[in-house]
Formats: sequence, structure tokens, C-alpha cells
Amino acid sequence: MPIKVEPILPRFGAEVSGVDISKPLDEATRRQIIDIQHEWGVTVWRNTHLDNASHVAFSRIFGHVELAPARNGQYRFEQPELFDASNIDRSGVIVDNASIRLAAKGNRLWHSDSSFMKVRAAEALLLCHEAPPHGGPTWFADTRSAYEDLPQTMKDRLEGLQAVHSYFWSRRRAGYPYTEEEVDAMPAAVHPVVHVHKGSGRKALFIGAHTRDIIGMQREDGRKLIDELIAWCTQPQYVISVHYKPGDMSIWDNLCSLHRGGEYEDTRYRRDMRRTTVRDPDAGEASSDHYTRLFTDAGDTPFAPRDSTLERIPEKV
Ligand SMILES: [Fe+2]
Repeated sequence: MPIKVEPILPRFGAEVSGVDISKPLDEATRRQIIDIQHEWGVTVWRNTHLDNASHVAFSRIFGHVELAPARNGQYRFEQPELFDASNIDRSGVIVDNASIRLAAKGNRLWHSDSSFMKVRAAEALLLCHEAPPHGGPTWFADTRSAYEDLPQTMKDRLEGLQAVHSYFWSRRRAGYPYTEEEVDAMPAAVHPVVHVHKGSGRKALFIGAHTRDIIGMQREDGRKLIDELIAWCTQPQYVISVHYKPGDMSIWDNLCSLHRGGEYEDTRYRRDMRRTTVRDPDAGEASSDHYTRLFTDAGDTPFAPRDSTLERIPEKV
């Protein structure tokens, strides 16, 4: 049965079916899936029958799968590649405290996962194990088409600009009590504001909630420009939402899209989502667990995890 691709928007997002991705795939099929992903930026796969092990195995067709951040060497799953994006603890009980609420708020800002890392993330594969009865979608925005539709004057203005990305900046925006000075002292990464998305050859904007400053611009002016670009990318013509049932999976390419978590009654309903993250194939070398190292380097900070209920924090969003 041939792979079926049903576009969601004319240039962005597609539902894909016709192949059992829970089983090993031949090279031609793998290549086809990678090409589809590069073309559409976000793909949606329904009723995949993936479990933890086959989720990780399938993720590897896109490249190196990162280890999720560990705190005190602990992971919730047998597979250290699985990032826990749920609202429950190890025993399945809904976790509700100030840190979790702040993390959820941060996840609801438009962002590109791991843009605060020197070595960036490309594809993220988010698999639903349990969904709330209403809500809980992921929203995605098309940063390639948004770039292509910019007025030429803005494209000229953005040419060659570089931006600073900081995890701790986006947490501050979400309400964590970091001061600007504390964020100044934290690790950050620099990336071009516009880059070529290698998989498609199209240019894309690369900004989001982690983007703190534009190098060479006054802080206030840079932030105004960042906010303007995020608002441009997230206009309705560039945005899709994906709702999940157990077994459904979305795959997004962080290098050509923004995303944010959607609202749901997170203190009432369980939502068990697990994610793998594939390293940007052009990013160069990094330690196998460079996320954990980042947060270790950041030292003791307000809301740093100190007890078992916070083991999911800091959240690699
Ligand atoms: Fe995210």
C-alpha cells in the first residue's frame, strides 16, 4: 500500500498513512518518510501502535536521538531518549504545583525546542499515550512560508542578523522569578535569525520564546523585532492544530516550525505524552547528554528541582 499524504495547509502540515511505522522499515520507505517530513514540516500519524521501544526505534530514521535531561540520574522510562511531556508522576497521579504550572505556561509560548542549545534539535516526535477528553492539542506555525511572505524590506533588514536564545529567558517570560542579571549569567546560544532549512532548501525564520536579543541591536528594539516576527509567523494562515487520541503522533521539524502546547484542564485530566528529539544533523558534535549538562552548568536557580515532584523540571521544551 503506497504512503498516503493529505496536506493540512497548502504549504504546511500533512496527515500521513499507509505504512506501519511500528515495524522495521526498508530503506526506500525510510527515505520516503524523511522526504515527506522535510517537505511538510509537520506530519501527523494516527493510531500508530507505537510503544516506547518502537517510538525510539522509528525516531532513529531521522538521525541521532538525543537523551532526555536526567536529574540525579533518574528517568521515568526504560528508554532514556524519552522526554516525559505528561502531567502525571510515576504512579500516574496528576502533578499540580507552582513549578509545574509555570512549566506548562512556558510550553504554551510559541517556541522551537532546544533553540537555546548550541547544538539544535531538528525533528521532535510526540506520541500520545493518554489524552484528555477535550483540548490538549499542539499548535504549529510555518516559519518557512512566513519568511517567504515577508516584505522584501523586512527580508533585507533580517539578512545576516544573529539572535541570542536562552532557556532561562523564556522561563522568565512565563513567570519564573529570574532577574535580567540572573539570565545574563546563564548559558545561552547564538543562531541566525534566518537560515536555510537544509531538508527543503527553503529559508525559514528561526526565532521564538527562547529568543532574547538580536546581536547589534538595542535590547528593547531587538525584543520588539522578535515579538513582531513571532506575531507574523503565527498568523492564522500559517497555523495548524493537532488533536490527539492514544496512539496518535505528531512529528515537527524545529528548524522550520514553531509550536506551542494547547490548553486543557490539566489539574482534572491526565495527559500522557512522550517525546523523542532528533539532533540537527548539521549541528556538529555534542555530548550524548548535553541537556543535563546545560542545566547543571546553570547551577542552583529559583525553581530548580529539589524534590521528586519536580523531576520533570527543567523542562526541555
Ligand atoms: Fe516544545
